[in-house]
Amino acid sequence: MSRKQGVRPVVVAIDGPAGAGKSTISALVAERMGLVRVDTGAIYRALTLAVIEEGRTDDEAAACLGALDLRFEGGRCFLGTRDVSDEIRTPEVTARVSSVAAQPAVRAGLLSAQRQLGRAHGRGAVLEGRDIGTVVFPDADVKIFLTASAEARAERRLKELASRGVQSSFEAVRAALIERDRFDSERDVAPLVQAPDAICVDTTGKDIAQVVEEISVIVRDRLAALQ
Ligand code: DC
Repeated sequence: MSRKQGVRPVVVAIDGPAGAGKSTISALVAERMGLVRVDTGAIYRALTLAVIEEGRTDDEAAACLGALDLRFEGGRCFLGTRDVSDEIRTPEVTARVSSVAAQPAVRAGLLSAQRQLGRAHGRGAVLEGRDIGTVVFPDADVKIFLTASAEARAERRLKELASRGVQSSFEAVRAALIERDRFDSERDVAPLVQAPDAICVDTTGKDIAQVVEEISVIVRDRLAALQ
């Protein structure tokens, strides 16, 4: 269906490694373009929280999918009636989420939910994750691969952790980011990889406003070309 017919919601895919700025940038780009933002990492994180609370191993994660009562409202993430937005970002969840997300049954089980979330809003959505442009929406209207040097990403992650009262060191954060990226990139199913038709945006040394402007221009130009 062409964009000219004007009925299909816009899909903007933003993939990239941990700490590249996907969350902040996708939220601001979505706001600017009047689209909803879907944080697919939060889905894998909420499942990981359920796995931990149910005392399951990572291999058993798919068994928690059936009872996963996950909801997003006002930028917050709920499991049932419980707001778990902060709990899904603890170091304990972060340490296990890559392994949970590598389970083929987990990825297959979460695919249609992500597609539904991406199509739920009339105008469209900005989805951020690792495999949005390659697997979830291979026909996305715009694909961005957001990246930055490991040092810049670790610096940002360290600040974000500190703002939530979590103390760590630059070296520990950098090593953990690199390890998680390696794991996400080397898994068998839907690995983190730049889609051949994605535009790479390197955020190293750029501030948020600059990157939001750069991506908004890419999105506008691409949508105009599709008219
Ligand atoms: O973006 P994040 O750091 O919140 O993502 C947490 C983990 O979830 C990440 O290490 C890999 C996994 N993930 C994934 O495999 N596919 C996605 N589309 C999004 C996240």
